[in-house]
Amino acid sequence: MTRHLITSALPYINGIKHLGNMVGSMLPADVYARYLRLTGHEVLFICATDEHGTPAELAAHAAGLPVAEFCARAHAAQKAVYDGYALSFDHFGRSSSPQNAELTQHFARRLKEHGFIEERSVRQVYSPVDGRFLPDRYVEGTCPHCGDERARGDQCENCTRVLDPADLLHPRSAISGSTDLEVRETRHLFLLQSRLQQEVEAWIDAVAGTWPHLSTSIARKWLTEGLHDRAITRDLDWGVPVPADTWPELAAEGKVFYVWFDAPIAYIGATKEWAEASPAQVSAAGGSPAAAAAPADPRASFPRRDWRSWWYEADDTVRYTQFMGKDNVPFHTVMFPATELGVREPWKKADIVKGFNWLTYYGGKFSTSARRGVFTAEALEVLPADYWRYYLVAHAPESDDSSFTWEHFAASVNKDLADTLGNFVNRTLSLSRRKYGDTVPAGGAAGEPEARLGAEAARLLAEYEEHLSGLHYRKAAAALRSLWALGNAYLAEKEPWREAKTDPEGAALTLRTAMNLVRLQAIVSEPVVPVTAGALRAVFAPAEGGPVQGDPGGWADATWVTADEARTLDFLPAGTPFTVPPLLFSKITDADLESYRTRFGA
Ligand code: 2FM
Ligand code: ZN
Repeated sequence: MTRHLITSALPYINGIKHLGNMVGSMLPADVYARYLRLTGHEVLFICATDEHGTPAELAAHAAGLPVAEFCARAHAAQKAVYDGYALSFDHFGRSSSPQNAELTQHFARRLKEHGFIEERSVRQVYSPVDGRFLPDRYVEGTCPHCGDERARGDQCENCTRVLDPADLLHPRSAISGSTDLEVRETRHLFLLQSRLQQEVEAWIDAVAGTWPHLSTSIARKWLTEGLHDRAITRDLDWGVPVPADTWPELAAEGKVFYVWFDAPIAYIGATKEWAEASPAQVSAAGGSPAAAAAPADPRASFPRRDWRSWWYEADDTVRYTQFMGKDNVPFHTVMFPATELGVREPWKKADIVKGFNWLTYYGGKFSTSARRGVFTAEALEVLPADYWRYYLVAHAPESDDSSFTWEHFAASVNKDLADTLGNFVNRTLSLSRRKYGDTVPAGGAAGEPEARLGAEAARLLAEYEEHLSGLHYRKAAAALRSLWALGNAYLAEKEPWREAKTDPEGAALTLRTAMNLVRLQAIVSEPVVPVTAGALRAVFAPAEGGPVQGDPGGWADATWVTADEARTLDFLPAGTPFTVPPLLFSKITDADLESYRTRFGA
């Protein structure tokens, strides 16, 4: 059976990320991981903080902390936020781990051995005022391609082009602001990507047929422009050191690897970190949801803790899916594969690269550096995780950029979560309790409306599943929304509040069928709104504990229920105890809206 390796782009360590970052990598990866686990697959979902390079040094400098300490604190802070969003990483590691340093040095040695790394003399920006070379983001200026005046020495955020500090027009030091910059000679290691162009092309030809259009178009564009040799070392204090056994002189000069060289390797490093952690440590940190399963369940041993089986000589059963924003796509479709190919060792490469466009804030850019937009930690201060998860998945910037506005967010939450899902669950359970007490009512025989409901649920579930497997997030959310809306349509048709007066058996059938739909929604909503799904699952937990007889515990059972078009939703037996949960979603009022606009600036 296929086992799934899933990674989401490693968030930079320099501060709490914004919602655009979440929707373009970690959240869709989590939805996919949860869906696959629910359907019984073995999943390893890995992420980490990307800690090296100039962003970390600059942020530590601004915070007045030694960079190692800054990173340790910032890692814990980001991890807490991701826990708040119920992101189900099997491990959230760090690119600054010893495991990653060892792997990065290993990759570099092998690349040299096979003639893909050479030492070259380069002319580099030096700042006499700062008394140091200024690599990457230590230089800011105007982008030579699009004219954006806030381009940084490594990449222009505006046009996504990768840059060299020396390319920038009107350069200035990001430390001191000095424009008194000169160019000096120094030596660095270069990765000879130009020699790997054909191999990368052949690899893309072989695998990219099933990739989403955004990823292939970016990869092809880069390949058409041609792969250039790139410097992969820097003059920085913080990073993976160049190994002294291979490059003694550069090591003595204190050179470290460029952050984009070691960051993708950290997907592997973080897996190794996870595998080497003691089981106790891992379960204290959350561990795998499957770890809590009964010992007899083969899923109890998922995911296998053998890092090599996922990454090195991985067999055909491993399917690797990567998630990222479009600025990261070239690194994952072209540059990291070039590295993996060049080491001449059987490292696992991506099977699918899912890239995302930008989420904008009222049509403008979310920006970490300018602190514009909604940041993940602040969003949770305003509303619980599922509000954000649902909204972001339903409006994911897939085929195009999508715009976040508070008005759109409020409309979506109020209509889909409060009026549709929340209202259906609450009406069904409250009415049933009022009329028939605290257990699922018996009586009545299913008829045409119930058969229609069953068939419609089956159709939507199949559609939802197809879109989740195909990584079409907006479409998946639309199918889920329709599955929620089925409930209200069924209640409107049957009017159990009216039926109860004249035909109590009929009303019991209606409410029992509606409760079955609630149970189905509890199972299948989990990938998108896991916290709410947990509350819905708990609705039917018997007071004394233990499984509910005939309870559909997972997706397979849910699909079984609806597999036969003639089957009605009747897997939750009469007599099952239930509770009415507290209000699932509160509506966002005009006053709330006003306060959000004031707080966040709209
Ligand atoms: O764009 C970013 O936030 C990078 N830190 C992503 C790195 S992804 C991986 F390659 F490490
Ligand atoms: Zn640009």
